[in-house]
Amino acid sequence: MLKRLLLAGLSGYFYGKSASDPRQRPNLFASLALQEAEGSRTLEKIRTAKADEIPAWLDELMQRHIQDESRHARIFDRAVAYEGCEIDQESQAAISAMDSVGEGSLKRFHQREDLAEVPLANLLAGILVAEEAGVRAFRTILHVLPESMQQTRTGVESVLRDEERHVRYLSDALNTLGEPRLAEKLRRGIEERVFNDFEKILKHLVERNQKRPVLTRASSRPATLV
Ligand SMILES: [Fe+2]
Ligand SMILES: [Fe+2]
Repeated sequence: MLKRLLLAGLSGYFYGKSASDPRQRPNLFASLALQEAEGSRTLEKIRTAKADEIPAWLDELMQRHIQDESRHARIFDRAVAYEGCEIDQESQAAISAMDSVGEGSLKRFHQREDLAEVPLANLLAGILVAEEAGVRAFRTILHVLPESMQQTRTGVESVLRDEERHVRYLSDALNTLGEPRLAEKLRRGIEERVFNDFEKILKHLVERNQKRPVLTRASSRPATLV
């Protein structure tokens, strides 16, 4: 439990810091836009890989989830534009941001080359844990975003509502599939791994926060046209 509190505090600190710093903010929004878009594609891949096992009721919820994540990507694209920037899709930072959350990361996490080999409940539990991290991140961001950034705040609020719904339906789905404890097992596994690499991760976060934004460049288009 102590590990969990420490790690939650650390991640809250860095999200809070980058969302409140106007120099870091475009980079944070850009990274979220890329992650949300990649999240949507990854869910679609899971849906295809496990098509034979996903019951109709769950498939319906997953389809809505896929659309939600694409909408979140558009919200963060707009948030980048409100900062007067656009995402540099070709940048190395953009490529690694997508790789850190995409299909590749899922395969590394579950240590399988083919997603179809991973039990459906394990895949869902992995997504649930990621959604929980998203809920914490968006709450922190909303906590520090200035009231003057009303359009961005409204967007993030609606993203947060969706992420809370994703957490609920995935928890319910795991209960229905008879795997209520799987997510907790994964949370502990992740905390163990992060804790063992604590020094490395801390160094990476500190360096990232000290650098100028690398995912974005100044935009020539007005935000209203995005
Ligand atoms: Fe999302
Ligand atoms: Fe989500």
